Amino acid sequence: MDAGFSDFVKTNYLSDAEPRYRGLAEDWRANAKLSGWSFARAPGRINLIGEHTDYNGCPAFPMPIDRDFIAVFAAREEPVLEVSDRSRKGYGSRRFALEREIPPYPSGDWGNYLKAAAQGIMAYLEERGELTGAKVYFSGNIPPSAGLSSSSALVVLTAVILLSVNQREIPSLELASLLAEAERYVGTQGGGMDQAACLMGRSGSALKMDFFPLAVTPAAVPEDLIFVVAHSMVTADKTGAAMDRYNRRSMECRLITALLDREFRIRSGSSSPIRFIGDLKPEVLPFSEEKIREIADSAIPYPSYSLKQIAAILGLPAEEVAGRFCRRKDGSILPEPEDGFKLGMRYRHVVSEWERVEKAMDALTRGDGRRLGRLMDESHASCRDLYEISCPELERLTETARRHGALGSRLTGAGFGGCTISLVPQASVSDFLEKLSRDYYLPLGMEGGSALGDVLFPCRAVDGAGVLPWRLP
Ligand code: GLA
Repeated sequence: MDAGFSDFVKTNYLSDAEPRYRGLAEDWRANAKLSGWSFARAPGRINLIGEHTDYNGCPAFPMPIDRDFIAVFAAREEPVLEVSDRSRKGYGSRRFALEREIPPYPSGDWGNYLKAAAQGIMAYLEERGELTGAKVYFSGNIPPSAGLSSSSALVVLTAVILLSVNQREIPSLELASLLAEAERYVGTQGGGMDQAACLMGRSGSALKMDFFPLAVTPAAVPEDLIFVVAHSMVTADKTGAAMDRYNRRSMECRLITALLDREFRIRSGSSSPIRFIGDLKPEVLPFSEEKIREIADSAIPYPSYSLKQIAAILGLPAEEVAGRFCRRKDGSILPEPEDGFKLGMRYRHVVSEWERVEKAMDALTRGDGRRLGRLMDESHASCRDLYEISCPELERLTETARRHGALGSRLTGAGFGGCTISLVPQASVSDFLEKLSRDYYLPLGMEGGSALGDVLFPCRAVDGAGVLPWRLP
Protein backbone atom coordinates (compact mmCIF):
# COMPACT_ATOMS: atom_id res chain seq x y z
CA MET A 1 0.00 0.00 0.00
CA ASP A 2 1.19 3.55 -0.76
CA ALA A 3 2.88 5.04 2.35
CA GLY A 4 0.90 8.31 2.06
CA PHE A 5 -2.30 6.33 2.05
CA SER A 6 -1.32 4.28 5.15
CA ASP A 7 -0.49 7.47 7.04
CA PHE A 8 -3.79 9.03 6.04
CA VAL A 9 -5.73 5.95 7.16
CA LYS A 10 -3.87 5.80 10.48
CA THR A 11 -4.17 9.50 11.22
CA ASN A 12 -7.86 9.54 10.47
CA TYR A 13 -8.87 6.25 12.10
CA LEU A 14 -10.30 5.05 8.79
CA SER A 15 -9.85 1.32 9.28
CA ASP A 16 -12.14 0.34 6.40
CA ALA A 17 -10.83 2.97 4.00
CA GLU A 18 -8.69 0.81 1.75
CA PRO A 19 -11.43 -1.45 0.37
CA ARG A 20 -13.71 1.56 -0.04
CA TYR A 21 -11.19 3.55 -2.08
CA ARG A 22 -10.07 0.48 -4.01
CA GLY A 23 -13.66 -0.53 -4.83
CA LEU A 24 -14.50 2.94 -6.13
CA ALA A 25 -11.34 3.08 -8.24
CA GLU A 26 -12.08 -0.33 -9.75
CA ASP A 27 -15.63 0.72 -10.54
CA TRP A 28 -14.26 3.83 -12.23
CA ARG A 29 -11.71 1.90 -14.28
CA ALA A 30 -14.38 -0.54 -15.43
CA ASN A 31 -17.17 1.95 -16.16
CA ALA A 32 -16.12 5.59 -16.38
CA LYS A 33 -13.02 4.86 -18.41
CA LEU A 34 -11.62 8.37 -18.08
CA SER A 35 -7.93 8.65 -17.34
CA GLY A 36 -6.22 11.33 -15.26
CA TRP A 37 -8.43 10.80 -12.24
CA SER A 38 -7.95 11.67 -8.54
CA PHE A 39 -9.54 10.92 -5.18
CA ALA A 40 -11.37 13.44 -2.98
CA ARG A 41 -13.18 13.11 0.32
CA ALA A 42 -15.44 15.13 2.64
CA PRO A 43 -16.34 14.09 6.21
CA GLY A 44 -19.58 14.40 8.16
CA ARG A 45 -19.59 15.99 11.61
CA ILE A 46 -21.11 15.83 15.05
CA ASN A 47 -21.69 18.97 17.08
CA LEU A 48 -20.51 18.62 20.68
CA ILE A 49 -22.52 21.63 21.84
CA GLY A 50 -23.79 24.97 20.51
CA GLU A 51 -26.95 24.07 18.63
CA HIS A 52 -28.76 26.61 16.44
CA THR A 53 -26.20 29.19 17.49
CA ASP A 54 -24.26 29.57 14.22
CA TYR A 55 -26.83 31.60 12.27
CA ASN A 56 -27.18 33.78 15.37
CA GLY A 57 -23.51 34.73 15.29
CA CYS A 58 -22.88 32.75 18.48
CA PRO A 59 -20.26 29.99 18.77
CA ALA A 60 -20.62 26.25 18.07
CA PHE A 61 -18.31 23.33 18.77
CA PRO A 62 -18.43 20.71 15.99
CA MET A 63 -16.06 17.83 15.25
CA PRO A 64 -15.61 16.27 11.79
CA ILE A 65 -15.86 12.47 12.06
CA ASP A 66 -14.57 9.30 10.45
CA ARG A 67 -17.68 8.89 8.29
CA ASP A 68 -17.38 10.51 4.90
CA PHE A 69 -18.04 10.73 1.21
CA ILE A 70 -15.18 9.56 -0.96
CA ALA A 71 -14.98 10.28 -4.69
CA VAL A 72 -13.04 9.50 -7.82
CA PHE A 73 -13.20 12.27 -10.39
CA ALA A 74 -11.69 13.60 -13.60
CA ALA A 75 -12.03 16.77 -15.64
CA ARG A 76 -14.23 16.76 -18.73
CA GLU A 77 -14.01 19.11 -21.61
CA GLU A 78 -17.60 20.31 -21.65
CA PRO A 79 -18.81 22.59 -18.84
CA VAL A 80 -21.00 19.85 -17.41
CA LEU A 81 -21.03 18.20 -13.99
CA GLU A 82 -21.89 14.51 -14.06
CA VAL A 83 -22.13 12.86 -10.65
CA SER A 84 -23.01 9.29 -9.80
CA ASP A 85 -23.49 7.76 -6.36
CA ARG A 86 -21.99 4.26 -6.56
CA SER A 87 -23.06 3.10 -3.07
CA ARG A 88 -25.25 0.01 -2.88
CA LYS A 89 -28.37 1.94 -1.91
CA GLY A 90 -27.14 5.06 -3.64
CA TYR A 91 -28.94 8.23 -4.66
CA GLY A 92 -28.48 7.63 -8.39
CA SER A 93 -26.96 10.04 -10.91
CA ARG A 94 -27.33 13.70 -11.84
CA ARG A 95 -25.96 15.68 -14.77
CA PHE A 96 -26.27 19.40 -15.39
CA ALA A 97 -24.65 22.27 -17.24
CA LEU A 98 -22.40 24.66 -15.34
CA GLU A 99 -24.16 27.91 -16.10
CA ARG A 100 -24.18 31.20 -14.32
CA GLU A 101 -27.77 30.68 -13.12
CA ILE A 102 -28.28 26.97 -12.55
CA PRO A 103 -32.01 26.14 -12.41
CA PRO A 104 -32.76 23.93 -9.37
CA TYR A 105 -34.19 20.42 -9.45
CA PRO A 106 -37.56 20.08 -7.68
CA SER A 107 -37.33 20.94 -3.98
CA GLY A 108 -35.99 17.99 -1.96
CA ASP A 109 -33.88 16.53 -4.78
CA TRP A 110 -30.38 15.62 -3.54
CA GLY A 111 -28.89 17.00 -6.76
CA ASN A 112 -29.65 20.50 -5.48
CA TYR A 113 -26.70 20.16 -3.09
CA LEU A 114 -24.43 19.61 -6.11
CA LYS A 115 -25.99 22.59 -7.85
CA ALA A 116 -25.64 24.73 -4.72
CA ALA A 117 -21.89 24.13 -4.68
CA ALA A 118 -21.53 24.56 -8.43
CA GLN A 119 -23.44 27.83 -8.46
CA GLY A 120 -21.45 29.15 -5.48
CA ILE A 121 -18.14 28.34 -7.16
CA MET A 122 -19.38 29.71 -10.51
CA ALA A 123 -20.29 32.99 -8.85
CA TYR A 124 -16.90 33.19 -7.16
CA LEU A 125 -14.92 32.46 -10.32
CA GLU A 126 -17.31 34.50 -12.46
CA GLU A 127 -14.87 36.73 -14.24
CA ARG A 128 -12.89 33.74 -15.44
CA GLY A 129 -15.45 32.66 -18.02
CA GLU A 130 -16.43 29.06 -18.59
CA LEU A 131 -15.73 26.37 -16.04
CA THR A 132 -14.21 23.01 -16.79
CA GLY A 133 -16.68 20.27 -15.92
CA ALA A 134 -16.10 17.00 -14.11
CA LYS A 135 -17.23 13.43 -14.00
CA VAL A 136 -17.55 12.11 -10.44
CA TYR A 137 -18.17 8.70 -8.87
CA PHE A 138 -18.76 8.87 -5.14
CA SER A 139 -19.88 6.72 -2.25
CA GLY A 140 -20.53 7.50 1.38
CA ASN A 141 -21.08 6.09 4.84
CA ILE A 142 -22.56 9.12 6.63
CA PRO A 143 -26.11 8.17 7.67
CA PRO A 144 -28.40 10.47 5.62
CA SER A 145 -30.98 12.82 7.20
CA ALA A 146 -29.44 12.09 10.58
CA GLY A 147 -28.05 15.44 11.74
CA LEU A 148 -24.49 14.44 10.75
CA SER A 149 -24.27 16.94 7.93
CA SER A 150 -24.20 14.57 4.98
CA SER A 151 -25.68 17.32 2.81
CA SER A 152 -22.99 19.88 3.54
CA ALA A 153 -20.35 17.17 3.04
CA LEU A 154 -21.76 16.68 -0.46
CA VAL A 155 -21.67 20.43 -1.08
CA VAL A 156 -18.06 20.61 0.07
CA LEU A 157 -17.06 17.51 -1.92
CA THR A 158 -18.51 19.03 -5.11
CA ALA A 159 -16.77 22.33 -4.46
CA VAL A 160 -13.31 20.86 -3.88
CA ILE A 161 -13.67 18.77 -7.04
CA LEU A 162 -14.74 21.74 -9.18
CA LEU A 163 -11.90 23.84 -7.84
CA SER A 164 -9.44 21.05 -8.50
CA VAL A 165 -10.43 20.44 -12.12
CA ASN A 166 -10.31 24.19 -12.69
CA GLN A 167 -6.92 24.40 -10.98
CA ARG A 168 -8.13 27.04 -8.60
CA GLU A 169 -7.78 27.37 -4.85
CA ILE A 170 -9.81 29.29 -2.29
CA PRO A 171 -8.48 29.52 1.27
CA SER A 172 -10.48 27.20 3.57
CA LEU A 173 -12.00 29.90 5.77
CA GLU A 174 -13.19 31.84 2.75
CA LEU A 175 -14.44 28.70 1.01
CA ALA A 176 -16.36 27.64 4.13
CA SER A 177 -18.19 30.97 4.32
CA LEU A 178 -18.82 30.98 0.59
CA LEU A 179 -20.34 27.48 0.73
CA ALA A 180 -22.48 28.30 3.77
CA GLU A 181 -24.04 31.06 1.70
CA ALA A 182 -24.16 28.85 -1.41
CA GLU A 183 -26.05 26.05 0.38
CA ARG A 184 -28.98 28.40 0.94
CA TYR A 185 -29.72 27.61 -2.73
CA VAL A 186 -31.61 24.52 -1.47
CA GLY A 187 -33.91 26.71 0.65
CA THR A 188 -32.57 26.09 4.18
CA GLN A 189 -31.67 29.26 6.03
CA GLY A 190 -28.77 27.61 7.85
CA GLY A 191 -25.59 28.91 9.41
CA GLY A 192 -21.97 28.15 8.59
CA MET A 193 -21.02 25.42 11.06
CA ASP A 194 -21.35 22.38 8.80
CA GLN A 195 -19.35 23.53 5.82
CA ALA A 196 -16.58 24.88 8.06
CA ALA A 197 -16.45 21.67 10.13
CA CYS A 198 -16.15 19.61 6.95
CA LEU A 199 -13.36 21.74 5.51
CA MET A 200 -11.31 22.77 8.52
CA GLY A 201 -10.96 19.47 10.41
CA ARG A 202 -7.78 18.50 12.16
CA SER A 203 -7.29 14.89 13.19
CA GLY A 204 -7.85 14.41 16.94
CA SER A 205 -9.46 17.82 17.52
CA ALA A 206 -12.90 19.32 17.91
CA LEU A 207 -13.31 22.82 16.44
CA LYS A 208 -14.57 25.73 18.48
CA MET A 209 -16.12 28.06 15.95
CA ASP A 210 -17.03 31.73 15.97
CA PHE A 211 -18.98 33.28 13.12
CA PHE A 212 -19.21 36.58 11.20
CA PRO A 213 -16.29 36.52 10.70
CA LEU A 214 -15.65 32.78 10.80
CA ALA A 215 -12.82 31.79 13.15
CA VAL A 216 -11.86 28.24 14.08
CA THR A 217 -9.94 27.16 17.19
CA PRO A 218 -9.02 23.45 17.38
CA ALA A 219 -9.25 21.78 20.81
CA ALA A 220 -7.64 18.34 21.22
CA VAL A 221 -10.06 15.63 22.35
CA PRO A 222 -8.42 13.57 25.13
CA GLU A 223 -7.84 9.94 24.07
CA ASP A 224 -9.90 8.59 26.96
CA LEU A 225 -13.06 10.50 26.03
CA ILE A 226 -15.11 8.97 23.24
CA PHE A 227 -18.17 10.39 21.52
CA VAL A 228 -20.64 7.69 20.56
CA VAL A 229 -23.15 8.45 17.80
CA ALA A 230 -26.58 6.82 18.09
CA HIS A 231 -29.37 7.36 15.58
CA SER A 232 -32.89 7.73 16.99
CA MET A 233 -34.14 6.09 13.76
CA VAL A 234 -36.36 9.10 13.16
CA THR A 235 -35.19 10.69 9.92
CA ALA A 236 -34.63 14.40 10.13
CA ASP A 237 -34.81 15.38 6.51
CA LYS A 238 -34.16 19.09 6.08
CA THR A 239 -36.42 19.31 3.04
CA GLY A 240 -40.18 19.82 2.84
CA ALA A 241 -42.00 20.28 6.15
CA ALA A 242 -38.78 19.82 8.14
CA MET A 243 -37.24 22.71 6.21
CA ASP A 244 -40.09 24.94 7.38
CA ARG A 245 -39.56 23.81 10.98
CA TYR A 246 -35.85 24.64 10.72
CA ASN A 247 -36.43 27.94 8.93
CA ARG A 248 -39.05 28.91 11.49
CA ARG A 249 -36.32 28.91 14.11
CA SER A 250 -34.05 31.20 12.15
CA MET A 251 -37.02 33.41 11.35
CA GLU A 252 -37.87 33.68 15.07
CA CYS A 253 -34.27 34.64 15.72
CA ARG A 254 -34.49 37.42 13.12
CA LEU A 255 -37.54 38.73 14.95
CA ILE A 256 -35.65 38.57 18.26
CA THR A 257 -32.83 40.54 16.65
CA ALA A 258 -35.27 43.20 15.48
CA LEU A 259 -36.66 43.59 19.02
CA LEU A 260 -33.16 43.76 20.50
CA ASP A 261 -32.04 46.24 17.91
CA ARG A 262 -34.95 48.53 18.69
CA GLU A 263 -34.35 48.34 22.45
CA PHE A 264 -30.62 49.07 22.24
CA ARG A 265 -31.09 51.95 19.84
CA ILE A 266 -33.48 53.54 22.33
CA ARG A 267 -31.18 52.88 25.30
CA SER A 268 -27.90 53.94 23.74
CA GLY A 269 -29.10 56.43 21.16
CA SER A 270 -26.73 54.62 18.82
CA SER A 271 -27.51 54.00 15.18
CA SER A 272 -25.27 50.96 14.72
CA PRO A 273 -27.55 47.99 14.18
CA ILE A 274 -27.59 44.71 16.08
CA ARG A 275 -27.21 42.17 13.27
CA PHE A 276 -27.80 39.00 15.32
CA ILE A 277 -27.93 37.77 18.92
CA GLY A 278 -24.14 37.32 18.89
CA ASP A 279 -23.79 41.13 18.81
CA LEU A 280 -24.84 41.22 22.47
CA LYS A 281 -21.32 41.92 23.75
CA PRO A 282 -19.30 44.89 24.99
CA GLU A 283 -17.13 44.86 21.83
CA VAL A 284 -20.25 45.89 19.89
CA LEU A 285 -22.42 47.76 22.41
CA PRO A 286 -21.50 50.64 24.77
CA PHE A 287 -22.43 48.71 27.96
CA SER A 288 -20.91 46.17 30.33
CA GLU A 289 -21.70 42.50 29.87
CA GLU A 290 -24.16 42.50 32.81
CA LYS A 291 -25.91 45.62 31.58
CA ILE A 292 -26.24 44.21 28.05
CA ARG A 293 -27.82 41.07 29.42
CA GLU A 294 -30.19 43.06 31.63
CA ILE A 295 -31.37 45.26 28.75
CA ALA A 296 -31.67 42.30 26.36
CA ASP A 297 -33.66 40.25 28.87
CA SER A 298 -36.02 43.16 29.42
CA ALA A 299 -36.52 43.55 25.65
CA ILE A 300 -38.01 40.06 25.34
CA PRO A 301 -39.89 39.43 28.59
CA TYR A 302 -42.53 36.96 27.32
CA PRO A 303 -42.10 33.36 26.15
CA SER A 304 -44.35 33.84 23.12
CA TYR A 305 -45.58 36.70 20.88
CA SER A 306 -48.22 37.16 18.21
CA LEU A 307 -47.35 38.84 14.92
CA LYS A 308 -49.60 41.74 15.93
CA GLN A 309 -47.72 42.22 19.20
CA ILE A 310 -44.34 42.19 17.46
CA ALA A 311 -45.58 44.64 14.84
CA ALA A 312 -46.88 46.96 17.56
CA ILE A 313 -43.52 46.95 19.38
CA LEU A 314 -41.61 47.60 16.17
CA GLY A 315 -44.12 50.25 15.09
CA LEU A 316 -44.63 48.58 11.71
CA PRO A 317 -47.66 47.12 9.90
CA ALA A 318 -47.96 43.35 10.52
CA GLU A 319 -47.70 42.63 6.76
CA GLU A 320 -44.41 44.46 6.60
CA VAL A 321 -42.99 42.47 9.54
CA ALA A 322 -44.08 39.19 7.92
CA GLY A 323 -42.67 40.26 4.55
CA ARG A 324 -39.36 41.36 5.99
CA PHE A 325 -38.65 38.58 8.46
CA CYS A 326 -40.73 35.53 7.55
CA ARG A 327 -39.96 34.78 3.92
CA ARG A 328 -39.00 31.45 2.41
CA LYS A 329 -36.49 31.31 -0.45
CA ASP A 330 -39.30 31.16 -3.03
CA GLY A 331 -40.70 34.44 -1.69
CA SER A 332 -43.74 32.91 0.04
CA ILE A 333 -44.36 33.80 3.68
CA LEU A 334 -44.16 31.24 6.47
CA PRO A 335 -47.52 31.42 8.25
CA GLU A 336 -47.76 32.66 11.83
CA PRO A 337 -47.61 29.66 14.21
CA GLU A 338 -50.87 28.93 16.03
CA ASP A 339 -49.15 29.13 19.41
CA GLY A 340 -47.29 32.30 18.48
CA PHE A 341 -43.64 33.12 17.86
CA LYS A 342 -41.73 31.70 20.85
CA LEU A 343 -39.25 34.54 20.95
CA GLY A 344 -38.54 34.54 24.71
CA MET A 345 -37.88 30.80 24.73
CA ARG A 346 -35.66 30.84 21.65
CA TYR A 347 -33.71 33.83 22.96
CA ARG A 348 -33.06 32.11 26.30
CA HIS A 349 -31.84 28.99 24.54
CA VAL A 350 -29.41 30.85 22.30
CA VAL A 351 -27.81 33.00 25.01
CA SER A 352 -27.50 30.10 27.46
CA GLU A 353 -26.12 27.83 24.74
CA TRP A 354 -23.54 30.50 23.88
CA GLU A 355 -22.31 30.42 27.49
CA ARG A 356 -22.27 26.63 27.48
CA VAL A 357 -20.03 26.53 24.40
CA GLU A 358 -17.44 28.72 26.15
CA LYS A 359 -17.59 26.51 29.25
CA ALA A 360 -17.42 23.33 27.15
CA MET A 361 -14.28 24.57 25.41
CA ASP A 362 -12.73 25.06 28.83
CA ALA A 363 -13.89 21.64 30.08
CA LEU A 364 -12.58 19.81 27.00
CA THR A 365 -9.23 21.59 27.14
CA ARG A 366 -8.85 20.54 30.77
CA GLY A 367 -9.95 16.99 29.96
CA ASP A 368 -12.85 17.36 32.40
CA GLY A 369 -15.29 14.80 30.94
CA ARG A 370 -17.77 15.06 33.81
CA ARG A 371 -18.21 18.80 33.40
CA LEU A 372 -18.42 18.51 29.63
CA GLY A 373 -21.04 15.79 30.04
CA ARG A 374 -23.13 17.96 32.36
CA LEU A 375 -23.00 20.81 29.88
CA MET A 376 -24.14 18.45 27.11
CA ASP A 377 -27.10 17.36 29.25
CA GLU A 378 -28.01 20.99 29.95
CA SER A 379 -27.76 21.78 26.26
CA HIS A 380 -30.07 18.91 25.44
CA ALA A 381 -32.65 20.08 27.99
CA SER A 382 -32.52 23.58 26.52
CA CYS A 383 -32.90 22.21 22.97
CA ARG A 384 -35.95 20.28 24.16
CA ASP A 385 -37.67 22.79 26.43
CA LEU A 386 -36.77 26.15 24.90
CA TYR A 387 -35.89 25.50 21.26
CA GLU A 388 -38.33 22.60 20.93
CA ILE A 389 -36.28 20.52 18.52
CA SER A 390 -36.33 17.19 20.35
CA CYS A 391 -38.84 14.32 19.96
CA PRO A 392 -39.89 11.34 22.14
CA GLU A 393 -37.35 8.99 20.51
CA LEU A 394 -34.46 11.39 21.15
CA GLU A 395 -35.62 11.66 24.77
CA ARG A 396 -35.73 7.90 25.20
CA LEU A 397 -32.33 7.46 23.57
CA THR A 398 -30.55 10.13 25.62
CA GLU A 399 -32.15 8.83 28.85
CA THR A 400 -31.06 5.27 28.02
CA ALA A 401 -27.54 6.51 27.29
CA ARG A 402 -27.30 8.36 30.60
CA ARG A 403 -28.58 5.32 32.47
CA HIS A 404 -25.83 3.21 30.93
CA GLY A 405 -22.90 5.35 31.92
CA ALA A 406 -22.74 8.26 29.47
CA LEU A 407 -21.23 11.34 31.13
CA GLY A 408 -23.61 13.36 29.00
CA SER A 409 -25.94 12.76 26.06
CA ARG A 410 -27.68 15.12 23.65
CA LEU A 411 -29.17 15.48 20.21
CA THR A 412 -26.70 16.72 17.62
CA GLY A 413 -27.36 18.86 14.53
CA ALA A 414 -30.63 20.46 13.57
CA GLY A 415 -32.78 18.12 15.72
CA PHE A 416 -36.37 16.94 15.02
CA GLY A 417 -35.01 13.36 14.97
CA GLY A 418 -31.62 12.22 13.73
CA CYS A 419 -28.68 11.32 15.95
CA THR A 420 -27.61 11.77 19.54
CA ILE A 421 -24.04 11.88 20.79
CA SER A 422 -23.02 10.48 24.15
CA LEU A 423 -19.76 11.16 25.92
CA VAL A 424 -18.37 7.87 27.22
CA PRO A 425 -15.09 7.05 28.99
CA GLN A 426 -13.03 4.90 26.64
CA ALA A 427 -12.89 1.97 29.07
CA SER A 428 -16.68 1.61 29.08
CA VAL A 429 -17.38 2.03 25.36
CA SER A 430 -18.03 -1.65 24.53
CA ASP A 431 -20.26 -2.13 27.55
CA PHE A 432 -22.14 1.05 26.64
CA LEU A 433 -22.65 -0.03 23.02
CA GLU A 434 -23.93 -3.40 24.13
CA LYS A 435 -26.43 -1.98 26.58
CA LEU A 436 -27.66 0.69 24.22
CA SER A 437 -28.19 -1.85 21.44
CA ARG A 438 -30.04 -4.13 23.84
CA ASP A 439 -32.31 -1.44 25.28
CA TYR A 440 -32.90 0.83 22.30
CA TYR A 441 -32.24 -1.01 19.05
CA LEU A 442 -33.25 -4.59 19.85
CA PRO A 443 -36.86 -3.57 20.61
CA LEU A 444 -36.85 -1.90 17.15
CA GLY A 445 -35.92 -5.23 15.59
CA MET A 446 -32.25 -4.39 15.02
CA GLU A 447 -30.12 -7.23 16.25
CA GLY A 448 -26.62 -6.17 15.35
CA GLY A 449 -24.38 -6.58 12.34
CA SER A 450 -23.56 -3.90 9.81
CA ALA A 451 -27.05 -2.33 9.89
CA LEU A 452 -26.56 -1.55 13.57
CA GLY A 453 -23.00 -0.40 12.94
CA ASP A 454 -24.42 2.16 10.50
CA VAL A 455 -26.48 3.83 13.22
CA LEU A 456 -24.56 3.20 16.46
CA PHE A 457 -20.83 3.85 16.46
CA PRO A 458 -18.01 5.55 18.35
CA CYS A 459 -16.43 8.31 16.28
CA ARG A 460 -13.09 10.10 16.11
CA ALA A 461 -12.05 13.54 14.89
CA VAL A 462 -10.53 13.56 11.39
CA ASP A 463 -8.84 15.90 8.92
CA GLY A 464 -10.91 18.22 6.76
CA ALA A 465 -12.11 17.66 3.20
CA GLY A 466 -9.90 17.85 0.15
CA VAL A 467 -8.39 16.24 -2.90
CA LEU A 468 -6.03 13.46 -1.88
CA PRO A 469 -2.44 13.62 -3.02
CA TRP A 470 -2.04 9.92 -3.83
CA ARG A 471 -3.55 7.02 -5.74
CA LEU A 472 -3.82 3.40 -4.77
CA PRO A 473 -1.51 1.20 -6.82
C1 GLA B 1 -27.98 22.39 10.69
C2 GLA B 1 -27.47 23.65 9.99
C3 GLA B 1 -26.36 24.29 10.81
C4 GLA B 1 -26.80 24.51 12.26
C5 GLA B 1 -27.40 23.23 12.85
C6 GLA B 1 -27.98 23.44 14.22
O1 GLA B 1 -26.99 21.42 10.72
O2 GLA B 1 -26.98 23.33 8.71
O3 GLA B 1 -25.98 25.49 10.20
O4 GLA B 1 -27.68 25.58 12.35
O5 GLA B 1 -28.41 22.70 12.01
O6 GLA B 1 -26.99 23.76 15.14
